[in-house]
Amino acid sequence: MSNGSSQVASADRGAWKSKLGFILAASGSAIGLGNIVFFASNAYQYGGGAFYLPYFVALFVIGIPVMIMEFSLGTMTGQSFPMALNRLVGKKGEVMGWFTMASALFITMYYITILGWALSMMFGAMGGLLTDPAVAPFTPFETPSGGPSATAYFFGLIATWKPMLAVVTIWVLTVLILWRGTSTIEAAVRVFVPLMWVFMIVLIVRGLTLDGGTDGVLYLFTPNLDGVSDINVWQGAFAQMFFSLSLGLGTMTAYASYLPKDADQINNSLLVSFLNCGFEYIAGVAIFAMLFVFALNPAGSTLSLSFFVIPQGIAAFPVGVKLFGTLFFFLVVIAGLTSAVSLVEGFAASIIDKLQISRTTALTMVLVPGIVGSLAFALPQIIDPGLSGNGTLGLTLLDILDHWAFRYALIFSGFMQCILIGWVFGADRLRQAANKYSKFHLGPWFNWLIKLVIPIMLGYVLVGTLIEDLTQDGGLYGSLYDLNAFEWLPTVIPLVWFVGSIALAVYLTFGRPTEQAPVA
Ligand code: TRP
Repeated sequence: MSNGSSQVASADRGAWKSKLGFILAASGSAIGLGNIVFFASNAYQYGGGAFYLPYFVALFVIGIPVMIMEFSLGTMTGQSFPMALNRLVGKKGEVMGWFTMASALFITMYYITILGWALSMMFGAMGGLLTDPAVAPFTPFETPSGGPSATAYFFGLIATWKPMLAVVTIWVLTVLILWRGTSTIEAAVRVFVPLMWVFMIVLIVRGLTLDGGTDGVLYLFTPNLDGVSDINVWQGAFAQMFFSLSLGLGTMTAYASYLPKDADQINNSLLVSFLNCGFEYIAGVAIFAMLFVFALNPAGSTLSLSFFVIPQGIAAFPVGVKLFGTLFFFLVVIAGLTSAVSLVEGFAASIIDKLQISRTTALTMVLVPGIVGSLAFALPQIIDPGLSGNGTLGLTLLDILDHWAFRYALIFSGFMQCILIGWVFGADRLRQAANKYSKFHLGPWFNWLIKLVIPIMLGYVLVGTLIEDLTQDGGLYGSLYDLNAFEWLPTVIPLVWFVGSIALAVYLTFGRPTEQAPVA
C-alpha cells in the first residue's frame, strides 16, 4: 500500500485533534450507565467489600491488557473492529468481529432505552417525582412498607408512551454528536466529560456530609474474602469490568483507529482504565453513603438502585430535593450519552470501513433499526398486571435480551480476540507493536496473559454461565415470569440475538466484498 493513499484514507476516516480529545472520548465512552447504575448494584449484590478482589483481578489481569489489545488493533491497522481483525488474521477474525458488532447494535438499542427512561425521570424530578417525601425511618435493608413514590412513578412512567419521545430525543442527540465524526464527538466530550466529573463530585460531597454517610463507604471499602469461592461473583466482576471499560464490542478499536500510529497505547489504557474505575468508585461512595443514611434497600433488579432507591434517598434530603434529583438524572443522561455515542460509532465506523459508504449513509443504516429496537424496549403494553418489575412488554424484552447479550457477547468477544490475536496473529507481535511507541515496556509475561491466562479465566466463566443457564430449573431465563400470552419470549429472544448476529456476520464477511485494497 502506498503511504500517500493510506494517509488520505485515514484523514478521511477522521482523526482526533489532540491526545486530550481522545482520552476524553475514550473515558467518556467508558464512564456511563455501567459506572453509576450497574456498578453500585453489582457491588451491593456481590457483598460490597467481597467484590473487591474479583474486581481488581478483573481490572489488572483482564481489563487493562484487553484494552491495550483493543487500542492496538485500532492503531496497528487504522481500521475499526471487524476490518482490523480481517487485516490481522483474515476472514475468521472478520466474521467474529461482525458477530460482536451485531451484539453491540442490540446492546445499543436497549442502552438508549434506559437513557430515555433516565431522561424522563430527570423531567420527573423537576416535577412530581420527589415531592412526596420518603417514608422514614426504614429498617436498614428491608423493603420499606409505606413505599415512597419513586418505584410507582417509574412503573407508571414506563407504562406510558412518554419515554418513547425521550428515546427518540436521545437517538437524535447521539446522531448529531456523531454527525461529523471525530470533530463533533470531540466537541461534545470536551463539555460533557468534565461536567460529569463536577456533578459526581457535588453528589459525593452531598452524600458524605449527610449524617452517617461514611458508614456506607466503610461497607464498600472493607475488603472481605467471602466472594472468592463463588463463581457468580467472578462472573459478575468480569462482565462488569468488560462493560464498564467498554471492551468486547469493538468500541475502543474504532476510537483508537483515529489516533496517529505512534500513540502510546499502554499509557492510554492505563489512563482510561484508572479514570473509569476512579469514577466508578466515587459513584459507589456517593450511592452507598445514601443507602446507609436512609437505610434503603437496594435489592431487586439492576435498575432499581438508581431509578428507585437513589431518588427515594434524595427525596429525604433536608434541602435541595428537586435540584439534586434533577442533577442526578442529568448526570446519568450525559454519562450515558457519551457512551451511547461510542457504541454507535463502533458500528458506524465498521460499516464505513467495510462498505466504503459515507458517514451519513452509515448513520442512517444504524439509526433506522436502532430507533425501532429502542422503541420496542420502551413498549408500554402491560403483560404482567402484577407489575412485579417486569410489568411492561418493553422492560421484559430488555431484561431477557440483557441476560444473554450482556453476559455472553462481551466476554465471548474478549475470549475470541485473545485466541485469534494470541495464537493466530501472535501475542508477541502485538506486544512488540504496543511496546514500540511506549515508555513502559510489556515483558514476555504479557504474551502468556493474552494466550493463556485471560482465555482460561474468560472461558471458565463462559462455560460456567452457560451450564447454569441451560440447567436452570424451569427452562431458559425468564421462563418463570408470568408472561401470559408472551411465554415464547424467553426462547425467541436469545434465538433472535444469536441467529441474527450470525446471519449478519456471515453476510457481511462472505457476502459482501471488501471494498478496499488489502495491506500489502
Ligand atoms: N462503558 C459504558 C458504560 O459503562 C457502556 C459502553 C459503551 C460499552 N461502549 C461500550 C460497553 C462497548 C461495552 C462495550 O456504561
